Amino acid sequence: MNRDKWWKNAVIYQIYPRSFADSNGDGTGDLQGIISKLDYLENLGIDAVWLSPVCRSPQDDNGYDISDYQDIDPVFGTLEDMEELIREAGKHNIRIIMDLVLNHSSDEHRWFREARKSRENPYHDYYVWRDGVEGELPNDMRAAFGGSAWEWVPEVGQYYFHQFSVKQPDLNWENPRLRREIYDMINWWTGKGVGGFRLDVIDQIAKEPDRGITNNGPRLHEYLRELSRETFQKADLVTVGEAWGATPELAKLYSNPDNSELSMVFQFEHICLDQVEGKEKWDLAPLPFQKLKEVFGRWQTQLYGKGWNSLFWNNHDLPRIVSRWGNDREYWEESAKMLAILLHGMQGTPYIYQGEELGMTNVAYEIEEYRDIETLNLYSDRLEKGYKEEDVLRSIHAKSRDNARTPMQWNEEENAGFTKGTPWIRVNPNYRKINAARQVEDGDSVFGCYRELIRLRRKYPVFVDGRFSMLLEEDENIFAYTRENEDSRLLVVCNFYGRTVDCPLEEPANAKLLISNYKDGEKAMILRPYEARMYLEETDDPK
Ligand code: GLC
Repeated sequence: MNRDKWWKNAVIYQIYPRSFADSNGDGTGDLQGIISKLDYLENLGIDAVWLSPVCRSPQDDNGYDISDYQDIDPVFGTLEDMEELIREAGKHNIRIIMDLVLNHSSDEHRWFREARKSRENPYHDYYVWRDGVEGELPNDMRAAFGGSAWEWVPEVGQYYFHQFSVKQPDLNWENPRLRREIYDMINWWTGKGVGGFRLDVIDQIAKEPDRGITNNGPRLHEYLRELSRETFQKADLVTVGEAWGATPELAKLYSNPDNSELSMVFQFEHICLDQVEGKEKWDLAPLPFQKLKEVFGRWQTQLYGKGWNSLFWNNHDLPRIVSRWGNDREYWEESAKMLAILLHGMQGTPYIYQGEELGMTNVAYEIEEYRDIETLNLYSDRLEKGYKEEDVLRSIHAKSRDNARTPMQWNEEENAGFTKGTPWIRVNPNYRKINAARQVEDGDSVFGCYRELIRLRRKYPVFVDGRFSMLLEEDENIFAYTRENEDSRLLVVCNFYGRTVDCPLEEPANAKLLISNYKDGEKAMILRPYEARMYLEETDDPK
């Protein structure tokens, strides 16, 4: 097994810059805010930070609509601030991973401003156009944030294609000149010392709208190999592609150990389990525990030796895991730690999304408090379609992306210490109970648990290369597995529910308990609510 890649040993921390730390009191987090928290991140022990987009942007989709890939948006700071962040983070042994949004740009990008002027303009073909007549759409494809995926431009008498908001026109990857510009831009960032890239909705770049194809288009892997050859392979970078539609088979291509495409993909099969099949994420279904085990087991097994997993529960698009699979009330602390222990024992590179290490929870606001374009569009669409407001709000409370975007909870001061001004989005009212100041000094806190898990992963190679086996597949309460290499065996046992259960496994004889979420020890294999234990047996005979 290949242990040589630094990112196989790494833990990555995702920062959503507008919600992390505000240094200048304008209510929005910024790069200087991040710099001021590098000690905190070093203390946690992470190796790299993935920054959600900080490039120049009209912020229609909070930065995922980029109008200049080679400049920093003034709400976050300047290019000098970015250079300072890369440098200062380096002093803390933290690499900076940038978010590359390559499927689309902002409609305010110079390329698009040119493209829409005339069909002859050299930039016209950087985007995806179809002839038509105003009012007669090329087809009935829908955009992810509601409405048609086509938008009419009278100047050229054509529609442009957008998979997301109308201000996010899709880029045309069939055009080699566009691809070249993208590679040059990436190499420019690499030259500035970034440690890698996260590639936004990368499986959607090879779209073929005439055939209704959005993700996994026929040319996708050809583009990825060219992209990798022209950019990433020239440096020791980590690359992670967001791919909603990836299967283990596809992930083996993306993350082939021959390094021809990417380091790994972010796939969502374990995340999408609580939605009605074939419907939208807002159509809520109960969480199927057996299915969760089956999905994790399949990815762990199929990628072993053939690819590499990303391990995550949260990101800036997802509700908070402790409010989802955990219990954010009476077992808040136990369940937050259990979910951490379960995930960090698996094979892959773990991602911690800001605030997850504190057990931050979902919010349940009135509609006026939400800021996310997807949430707001959903609300008006569904009311128009005749849904009851309480039902729409129930879906929003469970699934809105703003659950992840409320400000980081630093301390008990006003606005949780996030800003001295008025925060761009309301702070979760539970910040007096859940905040970093209360947890960093306390080894038994959720933060302490994450820090310890990171330390353990660094210490024992079995976390990187141990082969995964699922135990108790049919058990309705317990998620248990082992990871085994030639000299040790890790056993992880987690009770996923709020009732005490008998675990049918034998207590491992010569194992040490590496970590658990209950202080007063573990005698027999009786698991208390949300109890999690991780044991290590050293099977190596000293020679
Ligand atoms: C990805 C991002 C999401 C964004 C979308 C469009 O899914 O994670 O935040 O809205 O792409 O760029």
